[in-house]
Amino acid sequence: MTDQSCLAVVLAAGEGTRMKSDLPKVLHSVGGRPLIDAVLESARAGGAGRLAVVIGAGADKVRSHLTKVAPDAQIFEQRERLGTAHAALAARAALAGHEGPVLVLFGDTPLVRPSTIAALTERLSAGADIALLGFTTEAPTGYGRLIVEDGRLVAVVEERDADVVTKAVRLCNSGIMAFRPGLLPELLEAIGNANAKGEYYLTDAIAIATARGLRAEAVIGDDESEFVGINDRAQLSDAEAIFQRRARTEAMAAGVTLVAPETVFFSFDTRLGRDVVVEPNVVFAPGVDVAAGVVIRAFSHLEGARVAGGAVVGPYARLRPGADLAENVHVGNFVEIKNARVDPGAKVNHLTYIGDATIGARTNVGAGTITCNYDGVFKHKTIIGADVFVGSNTVMVAPVRIGDNALTAAGSVITADVPDGAMAFGRARQEVREGMGATKKAMLVAKKAGAKPAG
Ligand code: UD1
Ligand code: MG
Repeated sequence: MTDQSCLAVVLAAGEGTRMKSDLPKVLHSVGGRPLIDAVLESARAGGAGRLAVVIGAGADKVRSHLTKVAPDAQIFEQRERLGTAHAALAARAALAGHEGPVLVLFGDTPLVRPSTIAALTERLSAGADIALLGFTTEAPTGYGRLIVEDGRLVAVVEERDADVVTKAVRLCNSGIMAFRPGLLPELLEAIGNANAKGEYYLTDAIAIATARGLRAEAVIGDDESEFVGINDRAQLSDAEAIFQRRARTEAMAAGVTLVAPETVFFSFDTRLGRDVVVEPNVVFAPGVDVAAGVVIRAFSHLEGARVAGGAVVGPYARLRPGADLAENVHVGNFVEIKNARVDPGAKVNHLTYIGDATIGARTNVGAGTITCNYDGVFKHKTIIGADVFVGSNTVMVAPVRIGDNALTAAGSVITADVPDGAMAFGRARQEVREGMGATKKAMLVAKKAGAKPAG
């Protein structure tokens, strides 16, 4: 349940300079979705009932993305990038008059678990004025360091401002903080920019609060992998690796067999039922839902697809958005299926493209079949009935309909509807000339001999 009284302010205005990208940093993806989406989902699930997002760099792109994925979020623009405290101030209109606790999260830290976020606001309920999420790492470079005295968090020192002793501290700032109701605005007003970067650091709120006799506490997360902040492409790939490790572990814990887990790639929304078997080198792009007991064979790529129980997909199959496979369907090697429903027990096993189509129950689609769904401008539908036998190398030029129990002869180009129970031939009749093979060969051999230079 979300607590309507908790506001999450997500800072996502940074230039992301270190990404060296034309795409705003928070729109880069981990696990098949933009970083900002993951942060907003964790914030919600961690107890935030209200969301405010501060955007800046690439504002137009980020804004139009947010209006699609989080229409309820309030959006604020930070016009100049003067630091994280300055960014939080951009959301002052959301803070003003807000009566509950305030969480601050970073748009570039997408792997934090909701329960970890909830632990921070719980600390406020237990009496802290500020709770900050820290973690211990052997690779602290780039993170702010936590200064703890007598069990109290007294300051956060940024890397650039840290002396040698402070740099040796392994206790780091994840960037996530919670403030008791009403406190954040007054702390933000007090933060200056006298530091190595000349920026207004949100992390200075800790020292200011401590000087005022307030109580700041660090909550130390026990899983360092939740807190990786993405500033460059190497960290982006680190985050992806962490996401994938988690997804594999969760899938196996839920009863999925991964023959070679490190070669299977998941998206944030991949759903696999119990006893699904996934062979090596399979990619689940977003939007895949696989029912219990399905076998996904090696080297298959699935996206936006639904696969029902008892189906076998691959090896080397490609299911594209809108592929909808019913119970016990078989889709084999080098078969591509897009925007097509395949009814129970149908088989499409070899070297085939099925696009914008429906295939009836128990129909068998022969090797090398193609639905010509696109005329260069419009897409057209191919409707294949139940118990049909589509001969190998059939080309179906859509729009076209093949009735139940029909057959198409191998090699046919089907341009007109085939009635129920009919057989359609759409090819030239074969001609046989007795003896011509031998004569032809003799002619060619003689020609080759004659062409050789003399001597
Ligand atoms: C920040 C923290 C550091 C922490 C680390 C965790 C500060 C001063 N430093 O450093 O203590 O260990 O995150 O990953 O808070 N942003 C804005 N406007 C700005 C500047 C930044 O919206 O003017 C946003 C960025 O988009 C980003 C977040 O704030 O999402 C953090 O900024 P970033 O520049 O990545 O700070 P770090 O150097 O990572
Ligand atoms: Mg960062």
